[in-house]
Amino acid sequence: MKVLNLYHSTTGNTARVAETINKAVRELGHEIDAVKVSKDLEADLLSYDVIFAGSGVYQWLPGKPMIEFITRIRKHYVDAGEIIPCAPRRKGRKAIIYCTYGGAHTGVNEAIPAVKFMGQLFDHLGIEVVDEWYVVGEYHPEKYRAFSTTGRLGDITGRPNEHDLREVAEKVTGILRV
Ligand SMILES: Cc1cc2nc3c(=O)[nH]c(=O)nc-3n(C[C@H](O)[C@H](O)[C@H](O)COP(=O)(O)O)c2cc1C
Repeated sequence: MKVLNLYHSTTGNTARVAETINKAVRELGHEIDAVKVSKDLEADLLSYDVIFAGSGVYQWLPGKPMIEFITRIRKHYVDAGEIIPCAPRRKGRKAIIYCTYGGAHTGVNEAIPAVKFMGQLFDHLGIEVVDEWYVVGEYHPEKYRAFSTTGRLGDITGRPNEHDLREVAEKVTGILRV
């Protein structure tokens, strides 16, 4: 099985989740290309059986580099005739979308648009989004410290913690079995 893990992380939380996914996939005996999105990144999304895509949440959306990547690659696939109306399904191709989020104001509701935004790229390509993972991630910048202690999710200092990451690893195992 060919697996891709495409992610963006500004303060390191999503990177920890991404590393957990990579390790779990490799332990199951599959190859995985782990790629941090960047300005000039070109990725052949149609050559993978399973794609994980994730980002931290910033103003309800993925981080800017992920938004820019999705915008650019969407246009590439439109021009190439790979994104067409009705988005016919590509058999056997699956995507799992994940985010880390702080949810200080409205909880998980402020992370949902980010995950839906990322997922639509794959849905448009006919790649089924089989799951969405929302992992809590503390606010690192000092000026947002109160968001990590008195926000809607309570005290999220130290998240994602070992328990969060173990849960991610277990979900990877479960989903790749399917
Ligand atoms: C400037 C800034 C804006 C943020 N905006 C949101 C937001 O709109 N919704 C949310 O749930 N979390 C928000 N967060 C929290 C981050 O999504 C969370 O800490 C995440 O784990 C960061 O991921 P990263 O370290 O991989 O970039 C924000 C954090 C910062 C620093």
